[in-house]
Amino acid sequence: MAVQRLVRIRDVKSNDMQAILTIEYKCFKDPYPLSLLNRLHAMHPDGFLVAEAEGKIVGYVIGVLRWGATGHILAISTDPPYQRQGIASALMDNIISRLRAKGAKLVRLEVRRSNVGAQQFYLKLGFRQRGEVPYYYEDGEVAMTMDYKLD
Ligand SMILES: CC(C)(COP(=O)(O)OP(=O)(O)OC[C@H]1O[C@@H](n2cnc3c(N)ncnc32)[C@H](O)[C@@H]1OP(=O)(O)O)[C@@H](O)C(=O)NCCC(=O)NCCS
Repeated sequence: MAVQRLVRIRDVKSNDMQAILTIEYKCFKDPYPLSLLNRLHAMHPDGFLVAEAEGKIVGYVIGVLRWGATGHILAISTDPPYQRQGIASALMDNIISRLRAKGAKLVRLEVRRSNVGAQQFYLKLGFRQRGEVPYYYEDGEVAMTMDYKLD
């Protein structure tokens, strides 16, 4: 049985970036560089959230409003030892509420075709598979596009 941990979701702060970068490197073969994380924070301070448990950063999400009424999830990760404990679900609930409050009618994202675990996660949240974008990633992998309609 998963340990229930006390998790707090809050806005990111500049001094969280090193912890976020460490999670990026653990979770992705093409991690966002620190410069991009800092730029996204500067451009979207209220679209960048972290999950804190046991006094440390254990996950984060970046979601921004684009193209009028569409929320776009740019990144989400949970530190591996903290996965399957509801942390990314809590981050998504929060960012989707914020995007809805800003006027989003739809939330969309891209995910690697090989990343079946993340696709399962999004399907569980209510996202639907929409299509594919060939060569979306730098190594040439296809992206699956998924979306979630907000009422
Ligand atoms: C995908 C990811 C963000 C999920 O984070 P998480 O904190 O473990 O997610 P949650 O605990 O909230 O998962 C909720 C539910 O989603 C589903 N789910 C989550 N991860 C899954 C996986 N690897 N395989 C199958 N289903 C999964 C399960 O139904 C899970 O509920 P359960 O644990 O009771 O079965 C995490 O695995 C991760 O950081 N992966 C590496 C980075 C990544 O791929 N990000 C997405 C890029 S598009």
